[in-house]
Amino acid sequence: MLLMGLLCLGGKGQLRADYYASSCPNLSKVVWREVFKAIQNEMRMGASLLRLHFHDCFVNGCDGSILLDGSDSEKFAPPNLNSARGFEVIDTIKAAVENECNGIVSCADIVAISARDSVLLSGGRPWTVLLGRRDGLVSNQTGAANGLPSPFDSLGVIISKFAAVGLSTTDVVTLSGAHTIGRARCALFNNRLFNFSGTGAADPTLDSSLASQLQSLCPLNGDGNVTTPLDQSSIDFFDNHYFNNLINNKGVLSSDQILFSGDAATTTSTITLVQSYGSNSGLFFSQFGSSMVKMGNISPLTGNVGEVRKNCRVVNSS
Ligand code: HEM
Ligand SMILES: *[C@@H]1O[C@H](CO)[C@@H](O)[C@H](O)[C@H]1NC(C)=O
Ligand SMILES: *[C@@H]1O[C@H](CO)[C@@H](O)[C@H](O)[C@H]1NC(C)=O
Ligand SMILES: *[C@@H]1O[C@H](CO)[C@@H](O)[C@H](O)[C@H]1NC(C)=O
Ligand SMILES: *[C@@H]1O[C@H](CO)[C@@H](O)[C@H](O)[C@H]1NC(C)=O
Repeated sequence: MLLMGLLCLGGKGQLRADYYASSCPNLSKVVWREVFKAIQNEMRMGASLLRLHFHDCFVNGCDGSILLDGSDSEKFAPPNLNSARGFEVIDTIKAAVENECNGIVSCADIVAISARDSVLLSGGRPWTVLLGRRDGLVSNQTGAANGLPSPFDSLGVIISKFAAVGLSTTDVVTLSGAHTIGRARCALFNNRLFNFSGTGAADPTLDSSLASQLQSLCPLNGDGNVTTPLDQSSIDFFDNHYFNNLINNKGVLSSDQILFSGDAATTTSTITLVQSYGSNSGLFFSQFGSSMVKMGNISPLTGNVGEVRKNCRVVNSS
């Protein structure tokens, strides 16, 4: 028991900005260059890499577990299946990092740096990424299925899923601002388009012209994998338009729009924040950085716990 306690303490070390300063001084340059190339090749990749960090951190902490292959892996959990993307880009970044400093930098840290660079290269502001995470040895499919928020969840459920990993209601609203970039599939919002909750009409909190646009993109019995931008007003640009969309009933996902239009009991604080961010992009940018650092601190493995994976898709063989 004592030994286990010590091991746990050993795993609770602090992340630091300069963790690789002497062991891999060119790390940030290498990652930046590779993320730049990936986004140059496909603008959407910034969004996909940002989301990977979120989906990594919410399941067993930020430990690179989302990158592991296998039929029982997180990749096959409903929130990730046919949805999470960017794994090949992470492989490319990892190869470039290994080429620079072999066996030093964890996959979890590469994902964290890539998320920050993605936001910056998409037009957002930078934040200081804390480093020193080690890679986990398990991928937790049920953890991903249960712990990641669903677009069909109520705001109360979303808040409780964030609270379960130490994040606040402010973090829910702030980090939802990530939906200023990227895309969503019809299957994840088409319940809002036709016979919403048996009413025979579209979701009343969905702007009618956006509703008709999405109805033609996502017809009944159409292809659920067709995608639409989460922020129609500035698709691949990281800005605060997402919040003004919500004020104008132009949130694509139900989980977006309820931050502004949900029932009064849960939304008093979220409405105020949406309005503040919508009118003050500087406030959004600075709070987004703080919330990303907080998310990046979810249960990191440090010290001798876990490992530095050689290949982000498989645990090292002993
Ligand atoms: C608040 C609860 C959240 C819910 C319910 C949610 C749900 C979703 C859904 C359903 C999609 C579309 C997936 C698909 O079409 O297959 C999506 C995309 C995305 N999410 Fe979230 N999300 C949430 C929070 C976050 C957070 C905290 C971040 C990052 C900090 C984030 C970043 C993204 C990004 C960037 C995309 C676009 C990805 C791409 O285009 O590849 N989301 N989200
Ligand atoms: C960092 O990269 C530069 C070239 O960009 C190179 O000259 C230098 O040797 C590298 N530093 C280390 C420690 O590898
Ligand atoms: C998987 O995640 C759940 C939380 O949803 C946790 O209770 C469980 O211990 C995790 N399993 C492993 C093997 O890490
Ligand atoms: C909408 O759904 C309700 C309840 O499921 C159903 O009774 C009704 O017939 C549907 N209306 C249309 C127009 O499909
Ligand atoms: C999306 O595409 C995948 C892979 O091609 C397929 O298995 C899945 O059924 C499709 N999903 C929807 C909602 O159409």
